[in-house]
Amino acid sequence: MAGGGFVVGDGQKAYPGKLTPFVLFTCVVAAMGGLIFGYDIGISGQYLTISQLLHFHTTCGVTSMPSFLRRFFPSVYRKQQADATTNQYCQYDSPTLTLFTSSLYLAALISSLVASTVTRKFGRRLSMLFGGILFCAGALINGFAKHVWMLIVGRILLGFGIGFANQAVPLYLSEMAPYKYRGALNIGFQLSITIGILVAEVLNYFFAKIKGGWGWRLSLGGAVVPALIITLGSLVLPDTPNSMIERGQHEEAKTKLRRIRGVDDVSQEFDDLVAASKESQSIEHPWTNLLRRKYRPHLTMAIMIPFFQQLTGINVIMFYAPVLFNTIGFTTDASLMSAVVTGSVNVAATLVSIYGVDKWGRRFLFLEGGTQMLICQAVVAACIGAKFGVDGTPGELPKWYAIVVVTFICIYVAGFAWSWGPLGWLVPSEIFPLEIRSAAQSITVSVNMIFTFIIAQIFLTMLCHLKFGLFLVFAFFVIVMSIFVYIFLPETKGIPIEEMGQVWRSHWYWSRFVEDGEYGNGVEMGKSSSNQGTKHV
Ligand code: BGC
Repeated sequence: MAGGGFVVGDGQKAYPGKLTPFVLFTCVVAAMGGLIFGYDIGISGQYLTISQLLHFHTTCGVTSMPSFLRRFFPSVYRKQQADATTNQYCQYDSPTLTLFTSSLYLAALISSLVASTVTRKFGRRLSMLFGGILFCAGALINGFAKHVWMLIVGRILLGFGIGFANQAVPLYLSEMAPYKYRGALNIGFQLSITIGILVAEVLNYFFAKIKGGWGWRLSLGGAVVPALIITLGSLVLPDTPNSMIERGQHEEAKTKLRRIRGVDDVSQEFDDLVAASKESQSIEHPWTNLLRRKYRPHLTMAIMIPFFQQLTGINVIMFYAPVLFNTIGFTTDASLMSAVVTGSVNVAATLVSIYGVDKWGRRFLFLEGGTQMLICQAVVAACIGAKFGVDGTPGELPKWYAIVVVTFICIYVAGFAWSWGPLGWLVPSEIFPLEIRSAAQSITVSVNMIFTFIIAQIFLTMLCHLKFGLFLVFAFFVIVMSIFVYIFLPETKGIPIEEMGQVWRSHWYWSRFVEDGEYGNGVEMGKSSSNQGTKHV
């Protein structure tokens, strides 16, 4: 009897199960897969973007940062040393540096596509393991790099690692979690990203102070620590019941499900998982399948959510923050101060999201966070415009002025950290039916990587031409994305993952694509054929 879940008053299913120590443990370990991504954002952000934004002599004295650039990117180093201009908007560019940064994103993009097959055919756990191992190798090569090609090879491996991990970890968490706590447990991934960023930036700052200029080896090589955590973690983790069933291991999956949910009677959820996997089995080509009309809402979200996440401008604003800390008066410690302040706000606000996501829902957080970001972007644009003017030359403006700007940057970061940051990973991972889940998640990762990369590459040029207007461009996108969420994104809070079909079927717009009995046939058909077994409460 497939699909015989308990149906609660509003027609939604409710499976028995609690937040067991076992599920908590597995989710905490798996979520640490976010550390590698965060660590990389923290390290490369400081080495590349911030170093391009700030003049070296304002950030550090005898540090490893110049020695790193002098060694591997001499042309960038020379230009920066020679340039004493006070123009804060227009800086430099270097093809090798671009290749170095871009290699990670392109590698992540490709590997997330490969990971789609691994995750589907061999399980989520194996993808996480691959992610950890590849990232480990990349970190070691980078730490011991002697030539620029070693840095690039190392970075490609890091990218492969991130592609695998970001593809598998959010899916793992969403499948493992009891549906009532799915949001909170999944956001553990984003929490790890933010912790990774904070730790990397703080460590980087101190490593950069090591005399002799080799501290960058510790910063880059230090990435082995988060990589080992996820490598070893994935060795002890079980695979998700959804994935086991998808691969035909029914008995094992049932035993695991009992252990995970902490109850003996898991037959309702189990039957639904089996039904969902039937549909999955019949799909040979998940990629072409994604183009079918009934998956239009999923494909749209797989593309638009990561696209919008990057168009909030988070990475630009966080990378720009040190300039402002610098103007407040932290001439030598601007990057540390900025990292600690914005990084801590980022972590703390993610905790708020963990607390609220399953209570207030995804849509509320998206809309509240969007409004908050919009207001802050407008204020920051106005303040920066007034300070740097159109020619980018800072005048003598009072300190309180910069404090106001930094405060609004922090409020902006908080807004992102409880909305688009975590939800940009959570929502895609919970809305795809099993048969397209793995492929669709790869699209999400790829789109995220492409736009993180594009924005990082063009942001200096944009800053140069648009000046403070750059913040208004992102503000415009925040308006667009909030309207998009308001109109097109259904609420997914408290709905079992294999039951998600109902949110599209009852949506005013998406229902025309997803007709009754068409979506996720396994579960939905199972449901109609077993209505007698369905207990209404
Ligand atoms: C985004 C990153 C961003 C980070 C900030 C992540 O969800 O994908 O681009 O740097 O959040 O915390």
